[in-house]
Amino acid sequence: MLKIENLHTSYGPVEALHGIDINIEDGAIVGVLGANGAGKTTLLKSIAGLLRVSKGHTVYAGKDITNLSAQRIVKLGISLVPQGRLLFTEMSVRENLEMGAYLLQDRTEFNKRLDDVHAMFPILKARAQQMVALMSGGEQQMLAVARALMTKPDLILLDEPSIGLAPKIFDQILDTIKDLNTVRQTTIVIAEQNVKKILKIVDHAYVLESGKVVIEGTSEQLSNNEAIRQAYLGL
Ligand SMILES: Nc1ncnc2c1ncn2[C@@H]1O[C@H](COP(=O)(O)OP(=O)(O)OP(=O)(O)O)[C@@H](O)[C@H]1O
Ligand SMILES: [Mg+2]
Repeated sequence: MLKIENLHTSYGPVEALHGIDINIEDGAIVGVLGANGAGKTTLLKSIAGLLRVSKGHTVYAGKDITNLSAQRIVKLGISLVPQGRLLFTEMSVRENLEMGAYLLQDRTEFNKRLDDVHAMFPILKARAQQMVALMSGGEQQMLAVARALMTKPDLILLDEPSIGLAPKIFDQILDTIKDLNTVRQTTIVIAEQNVKKILKIVDHAYVLESGKVVIEGTSEQLSNNEAIRQAYLGL
C-alpha cells in the first residue's frame, strides 16, 4: 500500500532523514520506533506532505505522492494524528470534528462520518458541546484519532499517541486502534518510544536512529533481538 524509497528530508541545511526505506502492506499495523530525535515525526510529516522531501519517493497505492500538497494526500486517503494532538482546545468537540472534515462538501456524508466516529467513541457524542480543554488527556487523544477518521482514511499515521497518558489509558487507545484495523481494515502506522507495548500490537516494525532505519522485522523478530531487548525493553 505504501512504499517509501530512499527518503531524505532536511530542515534548512541540516538533513534529518538520510535515506529511509519502508514498506507498508495493506491492512497492516506497522511500528516506527526510536528515541527522541530519531526522526519519527519527520518521517510521518514527510509522508503526509507537511515537509518537503529532498530525495527519494513515497508511492501510495501505486501512485507517486512525493511532495504532493498535504491536502491532496488527505484526499488520497492518508490522515495524520499529529504528535501533541494539535486540537483546537478553545473549541468544542463537535467543532474539532468539523475541522477534520473541512474538505468535505456533502452534508449527508458528513453526518454519516460523524455517526460513525460517535459509534466508535460514544464519549465524543456525549461531550459534543464541551470545550476540548476540559477533556481528559485520553479523551483528547480519542478526539484526535476521531478527527483524523473524519477524512475517511485508508491509512492513518499516529505520532506518539502515548504522550501524556497513563499506561491504562494508553492501553485503551491501543485497543481502539486495533479495532479500527480489524473491523475496518484501516492500515496503521504508529510512531512510538513505548517499544514494549507497540511490539504487542504491530505486525512489523522499523527502528530509527539518527534518521536511519537500523533494525526492522516482525514484532516477534524484534522482541527476540538482543539489541532491542537491551536498549528498549530493559531486559
Ligand atoms: N523544525 C525543525 N527544525 C530543525 N530541526 C528539526 C525540526 N524538527 C525536528 N528537527 C530535528 O530533526 C531530527 C528528528 O526529529 P524528529 O522530531 O523527527 O524526531 P522524533 O523521533 O519524532 O523525536 P520525538 O520522539 O522527540 O518526537 C532531530 O535531530 C531534530 O532536532
Ligand atoms: Mg516526534
